[in-house]
Amino acid sequence: MQDVLKKIENFFLSVTKNKNEILSCFENEALQSLNTEAQERIVEITIRNPLCRKYAPPLSYQKFFLRCLHDSVEKFGSECSDDLMKTYTDILTMQDDGRVSYHSYKIDGNCTITLQESSCIVVKNTTGLQTWEAGKYLSEWCIRNPLNFERKTVLELGSGIGLLGIVVLKFCNPLKYIFSDKSPEVLKFLSSNIKINIQDFNNSAIEQLQLFWSDVTEKEANLLLPDVILGADIVFDIDTIGSLVLALKILLVKDSACAYIASTIRNPETNNKFLAELATAGFIYIILKRHEQSIFIYDKSSDFVLYQILKLQK
Ligand SMILES: C[S@@+](CC[C@H](N)C(=O)[O-])C[C@H]1O[C@@H](n2cnc3c(N)ncnc32)[C@H](O)[C@@H]1O
Repeated sequence: MQDVLKKIENFFLSVTKNKNEILSCFENEALQSLNTEAQERIVEITIRNPLCRKYAPPLSYQKFFLRCLHDSVEKFGSECSDDLMKTYTDILTMQDDGRVSYHSYKIDGNCTITLQESSCIVVKNTTGLQTWEAGKYLSEWCIRNPLNFERKTVLELGSGIGLLGIVVLKFCNPLKYIFSDKSPEVLKFLSSNIKINIQDFNNSAIEQLQLFWSDVTEKEANLLLPDVILGADIVFDIDTIGSLVLALKILLVKDSACAYIASTIRNPETNNKFLAELATAGFIYIILKRHEQSIFIYDKSSDFVLYQILKLQK
C-alpha cells in the first residue's frame, strides 16, 4: 500500500491532471477497492498533508482530485467514509479567492521543491508562469549529470519560475547561477520561489536578471562570462529563434563554454529552423542520449530533445 500511496501523494502535490493515471492508482489492488481505511489514508496524504496546508495546490485541482476519489469509491461499490464526505463537501463550498497556488515536486526522500505557479498557460504575455515538461526533463538530466556544473558559472535563458535553477543549485554545486527572463511578472514569481526553496537566498552565488535575447550585448556577455548556458522550452516561437541564437553566440564568450537546450518537439519546423540558425551562426550540436525519466511525473505524450551546443573551434 505504501508504494501506491507515495505515488498518489506525488501526483497530488505536483498537480498532475492526468485523470486516467489518477483513476488507475485508485484501482490498485493494495487499496482494496478504496475501503474506508484507504480513503482515510488518501485524504491524510493529500488534502491534509502538511505541505498542502502550507503551500496549497489550486483549489480547482483539489476539487477535481476529490471528485475522482469520490466517484471511484462509488464505482467500486464501497461506502464513502464520513471523513471523505466531509472533506469533499467542505472543499466544494470553498470559493477560489485568487490566492496564489503551489506545485510541489518530490525529488527524493530529502528534497521537495515547491513552486508558486499559475494555472493559465499565457499570463501577461508570457508562458513562463508554469513549469514546462522540457524544464522537468532538463532538470532530471542535470541531477543525473551534476559534474557538468560543478564550480561553474551557469546562465539560464528564459528561466520561467525557476525549477531548473533551483535543482542545479541544490544538486550540482555551481559556482554561480544566473536566472534570466524577459518578463517582470515571471521574475516576481521566480524570486518568491527561490526564497521558498533556498535557505540562503541572498547568497551571492544566485543572480536574477531581466534579459531579452534581442538585447544582449558583448559588454554584458563579458560581465556574465558563463561556462554553461541552460534553456528549457525556449525554442517554441519561430520569430524569436534568430534572437535566441544570436544571444547564444554573443554569450558563449569562453572557448570552453557550451549550452544545453531542451525542447519538447511540438512543431518540427520550429526545431529545424533552430538547427539551421545554429549552423549559420557557426555552432555544432550533439543530441544527448535520452535519460531515464523517473524523478518527475511527465506527460507521456511529450517528445523531448536535448542538445549540447558548442562553438566550432577555428
Ligand atoms: C515556455 S516558457 C519555459 C519556462 C521554463 N524554462 C520552463 O521550462 O518551465 C518560455 C520562457 O522564456 C521566456 N522568453 C520568451 N521569449 C523571450 C525572450 N525573447 N527573451 C527572454 N526571455 C524570453 C518567457 O518569458 C518564458 O518564461
